[in-house]
Amino acid sequence: MTCPKVYVTRELPQKALSMLKEECEVEVNPHDRPLTRLELKKAIEDVDGLLCLLTDQIDAELLDLNPKLKVIANYAVGYDNIELKACTERGIAVSNTPGVLTETTADLTWALLMSVARRIVEGDKFTRAGNYENWGPMMLLGKDISGKTLGIVGMGRIGEAVAKRAKGFDMEVLYYDLERKDRVKEQELSIKYREFDTLLQEADFISLHVPLNSATENLISERELELMKESAYLINTSRGAVIDEQVLVYALRNGEIAGAGLDVYEDEPKLTPGLAKLNNVVVTPHIGSASIDTRTKMATMAAENLLAGLQDEEMPNLLNPEVLD
Ligand code: DGY
Repeated sequence: MTCPKVYVTRELPQKALSMLKEECEVEVNPHDRPLTRLELKKAIEDVDGLLCLLTDQIDAELLDLNPKLKVIANYAVGYDNIELKACTERGIAVSNTPGVLTETTADLTWALLMSVARRIVEGDKFTRAGNYENWGPMMLLGKDISGKTLGIVGMGRIGEAVAKRAKGFDMEVLYYDLERKDRVKEQELSIKYREFDTLLQEADFISLHVPLNSATENLISERELELMKESAYLINTSRGAVIDEQVLVYALRNGEIAGAGLDVYEDEPKLTPGLAKLNNVVVTPHIGSASIDTRTKMATMAAENLLAGLQDEEMPNLLNPEVLD
């Protein structure tokens, strides 16, 4: 192929853009915001490769605008923004960025867990507002983390990294996953398998690490929140739609659970009305992987994937190998 054309849907770390520019004709979204649907349609029209983000909805209607599109590299490990089947049907290879963001996302999971349990954000606001006039035995009391039970839903790479960190807090770690780990792995990570409902009933902190798909959408809804202890906290750094957010707001407001730490939302970047008003929730703007090193690694990994696909080489993180048949 002569110089392939590539569109990058958002400014990325320069290292990745330079890699692409050495081999391709590259256009980058000039705005400091995601492309509108119309802009995305225009951007995709004439390119061989697309490097896109979780904010870009890649569906059949869009793909049909460009029959020569060959490769899509998603700048994320999650790829629920892409209709994979539609890509495969059109012979388009799709990749993601697994592995490089595992530790960074596990760190943020713990930051949220600790912030909500120890009321860090409330304490920060209180102190900045000049309300810290004297030390008090009953001021901003939170919950202990050490020695408590952590329930991890989804024991993939990030779930495992979260579990490893729990050892430092002498926690009992329970997990639920569609596939149970073997004994050796369970021992190595000091984790115990539980059925989903049992985990919800036993854990003091529940952290979600599942991909978003039809089976996990609204995985946490009214029934699940009712099963949780009133003293329990829910942490979500996976995808927002795994939780029914309206039901969660109700549960948090009415003390059905103690609190939540959320980095992702059902209808990002919008928050369900009422959520931001609650003191027992800590909210961050989908920054699970947002460290300088990790975002650079994600960008270079996405660029490598895209270049390999365009050059008919094996794509390191190909999601739909059937496309090669
Ligand atoms: C992902 O990679 O799926 C995260 O949500 C963003 O880094």
